[in-house]
Amino acid sequence: MALKESVPMLNKASCPNVINKPTVISMVGLPARGKTYMSKKLTRYLNWIGIRTKAFNVGEYRRAATDKYRNHDFFRQDNTEAQAIRQKCALLAIDDACNFLQNGGEVAVVDATNTTRERRKLLFDIIQVKHKFKLFFIESICDDPTIVEANVLEVKVCSPDYIGMNKDEAVQDFMRRIEHYNDMYEPLDHTTDKDLSYIQIFNQGERFLVHKLAGHLQSRVVYYLMNIHVLPRTIYLTRHGESEMNLQGRIGGDSNLSPRGEEYAVALGEYVEKEKIANLKVWTSELKRTKATARHVDAPVENWKALNEIDAGICEGMTYEEIQEMHPKEFALRDQDKFHYRYPGGESYQDLVARLEPVIMELERQENVLVVCHQAVARCLLAYFQDKSSDEIPYVPVPNEAVVKMRMSGSGCECENMHLLDPRRPGLSQGPTSHCHQADPSSLWL
Ligand code: F6P
Repeated sequence: MALKESVPMLNKASCPNVINKPTVISMVGLPARGKTYMSKKLTRYLNWIGIRTKAFNVGEYRRAATDKYRNHDFFRQDNTEAQAIRQKCALLAIDDACNFLQNGGEVAVVDATNTTRERRKLLFDIIQVKHKFKLFFIESICDDPTIVEANVLEVKVCSPDYIGMNKDEAVQDFMRRIEHYNDMYEPLDHTTDKDLSYIQIFNQGERFLVHKLAGHLQSRVVYYLMNIHVLPRTIYLTRHGESEMNLQGRIGGDSNLSPRGEEYAVALGEYVEKEKIANLKVWTSELKRTKATARHVDAPVENWKALNEIDAGICEGMTYEEIQEMHPKEFALRDQDKFHYRYPGGESYQDLVARLEPVIMELERQENVLVVCHQAVARCLLAYFQDKSSDEIPYVPVPNEAVVKMRMSGSGCECENMHLLDPRRPGLSQGPTSHCHQADPSSLWL
């Protein structure tokens, strides 16, 4: 890896900033079109790449403001009392979104239906005219009844609106609610809305229409939305087995697996065989220890340089004790701000996130994938899927000799650690762990 200019410490204000003006992203679309799913996922992604983002869900404001929801009648256009409550909640959410942007936030996602031109004009007047923020609409359009029904069944019947109601009644009620919205729905239109910036997503990504993109942030958002999918799938993530350098307590390098590491590789092959995973792909780094760990897995393997371990620069190949002794200042700086600290001639966790962004994008496009990587890399990837803040990233626990199994579906990500070797078994090296002040107790070796 090319030597980078030695910048041992970066302060938070020097985060790579792609935003020149705060942006409000406003969702548009009938209920059960995946707007909340997209809002949450986009918010998680933008935060992970370092853009301070928060979602404001108007449904939650409505539930906090009133317990008047009994059935779909609440959403009838002629229900003036409910209309007033809904308008008040939308204004509150927009106001909070703007406050967030005035106080250091960079992107606010307004998660609501915003299905009428009148509502979108209100958004435009407050956000763009009054506050001079950028405004970008994401409209989800779905005319495939099977997709809508699946979404209602998977997500909506579990909504707090339907606590205590049976599933069939909840589905029927929700379908009536959609009809009330449909009566008034005015989709974005490239003639009437010719000055607005927006993307229209048809049938969960079958087709896209992008209109008047304004700036880098919006093109990144569009690129992300064009890569994600909602098919259920599982991502398996593991660190390599114990390496010879782990045994010596040395960081980095490119050593072979220890005998115990070889055992883990065999166990991993057996685990994958038992799991019978459809069309599994295996991704490793370009380093020997991850390639060897994946050796017994019967599936196509791809090696990614982007998955290589964090580059510890002048500290590569040293033990943490040696670093503390020979570079005490560096050692202390890293402990003060582990996310931003960059090893002289090496990388920081912040650099790693930037390096891993294409991996995340490609993972989003894929179905079942097993990623065999390294501790710091695994922390960054897990942080993305588990929605951890940048401060937490350098301390995300990565189990040794275990696969983190992440089942993804339209309703979220479920994680489970599958331990393949018994950690109490004799013979496991107890090398020192990193000097991080929130050490993971399950990290028995480096
Ligand atoms: O094997 C240990 C290791 O993968 C090192 O190569 C790497 O520098 C370290 O873990 C990352 O962990 P930390 O950021 O806690 O030092």
